[in-house]
Amino acid sequence: MLVQQGHHVLLHGRNAEKLENVRIEFATQGAVESYIADLSDMASVLSLADKVSNDHDSIDVLINNAGVLKAPQTITNDGFDIRFAVNTIAPYLLTKKLLPLLSKFGRIINLSSAAQAPVDLDALKGNTDLADMEAYSQSKLAITMWSNALAQALPDGPVIISVNPGSLLGSKMVKEGFGIAGHDISIGAEILTKLSINSEFSDKTGQYFDNDKGQFSSPHQNALDKEKCRSIMSEMEQIRLRLEQA
Ligand SMILES: NC(=O)c1ccc[n+]([C@@H]2O[C@H](COP(=O)([O-])OP(=O)(O)OC[C@H]3O[C@@H](n4cnc5c(N)ncnc54)[C@H](OP(=O)(O)O)[C@@H]3O)[C@@H](O)[C@H]2O)c1
Repeated sequence: MLVQQGHHVLLHGRNAEKLENVRIEFATQGAVESYIADLSDMASVLSLADKVSNDHDSIDVLINNAGVLKAPQTITNDGFDIRFAVNTIAPYLLTKKLLPLLSKFGRIINLSSAAQAPVDLDALKGNTDLADMEAYSQSKLAITMWSNALAQALPDGPVIISVNPGSLLGSKMVKEGFGIAGHDISIGAEILTKLSINSEFSDKTGQYFDNDKGQFSSPHQNALDKEKCRSIMSEMEQIRLRLEQA
C-alpha cells in the first residue's frame, strides 16, 4: 500500500528468498530497498539499524511489525524468550538506534495486540519460561508500555503509536497458531498505512489504536500507569545498554 502511494520503502525480512521476491514484485511500482536481519538475534538487530543509518540520513516512519507467537525453539541465543526478543526488545533497539533519523514529525508505529498480559520482569529478561500465548501477550503489553513511556519522554516527537491491527487477521501467525483462515489481512495493512501517513494522527503520540474498535482506546490498565510504563522502559534501556556494550 505504501509503495503504491509512491513512498520509498525499506523492506525488512529474515528470509532472503522471500525478501527478494517481494522486492522484485514491487520494483516496477516504486522504490523498494531490502534489508535482511533475524530479529531474534540482537547482534543482527543492531547491525540492521547500522546498515539503515549508513544508507539513509533520514526516515519518516518506522513500522515495528515483525512478530512471533510460536517457534520451534523459544529461547534465543541471547537467552531471551523469542516473543520478548522479536516483539518487544528488537523494536526497542531499532527505535532507539534509528531515532536520530526521525524528525519530530516522524512516526513510530508499534504492533501491539488485543492480547496483553501483565509483564513478568524475570520473563522479560529470559529467566522464566512461559507458555506461548502468555509470552506473546506479555511481550505485546511490554511494547505498548515502552511505547507510552518513550512518547512521554519525547513530547516534541516523533509520534509514537501502538496498534492492535485487528484480531485474528488471516496471516501466517493466525493460520498456523490457531488453525483458522482468519479475517482479511488488508484490514491490518490499511490501518498501519493510515497511522503511518495520515495527518489526523499527528497529535496521537503515546496512544493506543484498537482496530477491533476502529478507534483510539484504552490498552491494558498497566499501560495507562505512567510509573509502570517507565519501569518497563528502564528495563529495556538496561537490556539495550548491555547488548550494545557486548
Ligand atoms: N494477525 C493478527 O490477527 C494480529 C493481531 C494482533 C497483532 N498482530 C501483530 O501483527 C504483526 C504481524 O503479524 P502477522 O499477523 O502478519 O503474522 P505473520 O504473517 O506471522 O508475520 C510476522 C512477520 O514477522 C516476521 N518475523 C517473525 N520472526 C522474525 C524474526 N526472528 N526476524 C525477522 N522477522 C521475523 C515473519 O517473517 P517470516 O515471513 O520470515 O516468518 C513475518 O514476516 C505481529 O507483530 C503480530 O503480533 C497480528
